[in-house]
Amino acid sequence: MNLLLENKINQTLSEIFRSLELDEKFAVVKVSDRADLSDFQCNGALALAKIAHKNPREIATAISEKLQQADFVERVTVDGPGFINIKLKNDFIAENIDKIAQDERLGCGTTDNPHKVVLDYGGPNVAKEMHVGHLRSGVIGESVRRIEKFVGNDVIADVHLGDWGTPMGMILSEIIAHDGNLAKVETYDIAQITEFYKAANIRCKEDESARENARKITAALQAGNAEYRKAWQHLRDVSVAAVKENYRQLDVNFDLWWGESDAHETCGEIVKLAREKGISEIDEGAEIIRLEESNKPKPPVILVKSDGGFGYQLTDIATIKMRADDLKAEEIVYFTDSRQTLHFEQVFESAQKLNLAPNVKLQHIVFGTVNGADGKPFKTRDGGVMNLDTLIEMSKDKVRLSLPKAGEVEGYGTAEIEKLVAQIAVAAIKFQDLKNTIASGYIFELDEFAKFEGKTGPYIQYAVARINSILRKAKAKNLSFGKVILAAPEERELSLKLAQLHNVVMRAHTDKEPSIIADYAYNLAQIFSTFYNACPIMSADDQALAASRLTLAKAVKDVLTLLLDLLGIEAPEVMLKAENKGE
Ligand code: ARG
Repeated sequence: MNLLLENKINQTLSEIFRSLELDEKFAVVKVSDRADLSDFQCNGALALAKIAHKNPREIATAISEKLQQADFVERVTVDGPGFINIKLKNDFIAENIDKIAQDERLGCGTTDNPHKVVLDYGGPNVAKEMHVGHLRSGVIGESVRRIEKFVGNDVIADVHLGDWGTPMGMILSEIIAHDGNLAKVETYDIAQITEFYKAANIRCKEDESARENARKITAALQAGNAEYRKAWQHLRDVSVAAVKENYRQLDVNFDLWWGESDAHETCGEIVKLAREKGISEIDEGAEIIRLEESNKPKPPVILVKSDGGFGYQLTDIATIKMRADDLKAEEIVYFTDSRQTLHFEQVFESAQKLNLAPNVKLQHIVFGTVNGADGKPFKTRDGGVMNLDTLIEMSKDKVRLSLPKAGEVEGYGTAEIEKLVAQIAVAAIKFQDLKNTIASGYIFELDEFAKFEGKTGPYIQYAVARINSILRKAKAKNLSFGKVILAAPEERELSLKLAQLHNVVMRAHTDKEPSIIADYAYNLAQIFSTFYNACPIMSADDQALAASRLTLAKAVKDVLTLLLDLLGIEAPEVMLKAENKGE
């Protein structure tokens, strides 16, 4: 059950509205914009007055007189043209926090409409090194996966490996050009395969006949040529192993490792279906579907190229059918940058024409690019593409600067320090990404992102570690948790903030926007810090107050840990630096 304070207020307001014969639709409050005036506000009187052509202040006054009687209300005022400002009694807020602190889900409810969601993120390609451009899809996708699961949806994450397009024929033909045949393919590692791909790219850019050859080999591979398939399998295996290692380091996880190639058979079915339905046509040797052009010109979808090869669009159309029929998906969400906007428009429209998944909600979420300080796509210092390994190493190097060296702290040898370094480095990378809204691109803040202060992942981890340290000390002193008492304004502010958790998670879920969680986590950590400075725990005036504050601290720790988890970030027990500070 969700433990929002709003629930109780809205319920009481509804009864009041009913008794005054006012439309209950408007009996809702929101967190006040003016914390100095109130905790919550209801603006319903203004809307009602407009409809009924009455004076909003009169309506608001009638409501507020009744609301003032409610046992949880401290004060109600009517302000401005008819805003109802509500301040709650401390006891009511405190009791609510007691419940949240005891609740397994910390007062968060689940979705009213649990369903099966397939998330398509990552999308790495065989033989291509993963670079910073691949970061966002994995990081955002992983967070959305966790959020969707937490609210009660059945989630399947599929990496959708790019393993079936022309690049496959390009590498194979490059290897043949180099070795004369494919005999040595199985001895090549990821570095060599990547080099072949780079060389193939250069060659195909310059030479039309090389392009033509690559297309032919791709078509033959797809049609089942045994030699090509065997070589391709090796390229794929080696690439998957490399990609898995990158994702393991970033703690980005998938349920399925399907690729475009897994849709091959279904692609054939789609081509047949399109013919039967009279939706496709032959155009210059290719088989295509023409799309509506009512709003803007839209190029046709190419199902089968003139050489018989299946295109990227067809593999995605077929994959929709598989996800609907085999996985029973009710919603499919794709995460890519804006260069694929048209692609997904075309794919979704084709799926609709073919009636492949009439009851499946299809959504393409577009994210902005990661840029360097110059506003251009983020590069290494020498101007090369920033690959993911380099990025992770760079982040680790920064984090090491903030931590003691191996052996300097008892119990922290190389293994322990390096584990911590990895946890913090990944937090730094992920939080810097997730604190921005998905749609906006961001500048990789090289000097800031791994700091332990500011709006960073390590700062939130540090806040958790600091509370862990408080909890350990309290335990050593036999201090126990107690009922929450709101004596100081800082305790009140913190409690009101904690009580918003359900709404925050639900908004992040509905909007598929992890930045809502990142923002809230940062605010909560700051509010906790203010609280902790003003309200000592171990040296509190009396036992009851100390026990209450300990409950509050533990609740903040639990909430921050949950929020970090929803962002795909671990919360280490100790940050080492935290040990020397605080009480
Ligand atoms: N492999 C693609 C790329 O690198 C991304 C895949 C996105 N997902 C999809 N179902 N098409 O551009």
